[in-house]
Order: sequence, then C-alpha cells, then structure tokens
Amino acid sequence: MAYKQLEQRGMSQPPVNVSTLRTMKAEREPIACLTAYDASFACIVDQAGTDVVLVGDSLGMVIQGHDTTVPVTVADMIYHCRVVSRGLRRAFLMADMPFMSYTTPVQALENAVRLMQEGGAMMVKLEGGGGQLGIVEHLARHDIPVCAHIGLRPQSVHKLGGFRVQGREEGQARQMVEDAVALERAGADIVLLECVPTDVGQAVRDAVAVPVIGIGAGPQVDGQILVLYDILGITQGRLPRFVQDFMEGAGSPGDACEAYVKAVKTRAYPAAQHCFS
Ligand code: KIV
Repeated sequence: MAYKQLEQRGMSQPPVNVSTLRTMKAEREPIACLTAYDASFACIVDQAGTDVVLVGDSLGMVIQGHDTTVPVTVADMIYHCRVVSRGLRRAFLMADMPFMSYTTPVQALENAVRLMQEGGAMMVKLEGGGGQLGIVEHLARHDIPVCAHIGLRPQSVHKLGGFRVQGREEGQARQMVEDAVALERAGADIVLLECVPTDVGQAVRDAVAVPVIGIGAGPQVDGQILVLYDILGITQGRLPRFVQDFMEGAGSPGDACEAYVKAVKTRAYPAAQHCFS
C-alpha cells in the first residue's frame, strides 16, 4: 500500500534514500554510483540498478570541454540536474555544488535550495574538509542532505598543483580521517573520498557510520563511483588509473552499466590495478 503510487508510475522497487544507503553500509552491501548528465543516460544508468546518480561538476570537462571543473556555474548544474531527474525512477539523485557556490552558509543554503527545488536534487555534494564544517552544519540544520567530498578535490586543482593522489603522507592521512569524523558530526550524510591509498580508504570507512563512497579509494569503502563517460570509453585522452572501460565486451551502454553495477556489487571492481598504495 505504501508504494501504490510507485507501482502506478511503473516502479518495481522503492526509490533509494538516505536510510537505504545507511542500511547498505550496515549490511556491507556495496553501493554502486555513477554520474549522469542527461535524461537518456540517466534512464540507462537507473535501469542498470545504480543506487546513486551524481550530476557531477565533471560535466565541465566531459560535456563542456573545459580542462577543469572550475568554470561550471549553478545555472549549469540546475539545468543538468533537472534533465537527469526526468530519467530516474529508483536511483538517489545527488548534485554537485559548483566552485565558489558555497563560500558562506547563506550562499550555500540558497544554492542548495535551488539545486533541490529547481533541479530536483535529493542531496548536494560539496568539496572540502575541516574548513567546510560551518557550511555543512548550516545545511544540515535546514535538513539539506549533504555529501562531503574529501581527498582529491578537483575544484582546488589549481591550489593542489594537479590531479594527484592525496593522503600518502601519514599526517595528511590522519587529517583526512579526522576531517571525515568532524564532517559526519557536523551533519554530513555521505563522505565521498577521491584518489587516496587503499589503507586510507579503509581507515575513513572504519571511522564513520555514514557511507563512504570511493573513487580511486580502494575496495574497502562502502561504495564506488565513476564518471559515466569514462566507463563507456567515451572520454578522450589519458584516464586515471582507477577507471575501467566497461564497454569492453559489452553490446550496449546499458550492458556496460549493468556490468559496472555487478562488478561493484560483487567487489570485482576495483581490482588491484585500479588502486593506489
Ligand atoms: O564531478 C564528479 O563527477 C565527481 C565524481 C567524479 C566523484 O565529483
């Protein structure tokens, strides 16, 4: 009875929400996540059984052709979020807050509300560690679901000096674990960890109760995310070590997405060659 409306909309399974994701962590079921930027791919990714779909500001690179995510605007994010939301049935929709759209609590709340109301996002993702505690707290106090993105933060690429593995030094790794704990306390519902050694991925996962989604963070985290165009072999140029091309041996993009979801769920992905030490 609770899902009558969903049945009427042709949905065989209840939609994923924050508590589904927490239960998956508790039950050690890997969470499969992908990016999407338009309605057609959103539909394919959703039907493949992806749990979380991220409208990532990686769209600045793979859709708009920029070298970094820095030029992406709030208006860009709202547009892509809105079109992706029309393609989803079951997956949980997360949207990136773009560069400089969350410099104060007031600005962050205003833009997060726009992403949710105009874009249909169910959670916003922002980059940064301990420096973002006030922002995360403010959003959480207003019941905005938040994903805190730590490790390699692409919006800070010009400050970091390139897209590099983070947390290789002991002090940096310890700081990352402390940041994850503080962000969870501030109200973050998910931690996303990018490009860190496998043991740092495991330490962060063990330190927090909320799900930890990794991209290049090893196999021990609670879920995996990759850029859709990377797994479909569309992205041009050199790809990061953690990427696997799932179009190899697949007959269609749908098959490739299903193969990715299966590989995450069975922990076949990431394999040793996708991980950092
Ligand atoms: O923008 C993006 O697509 C991301 C993922 C790669 C994690 O942040």
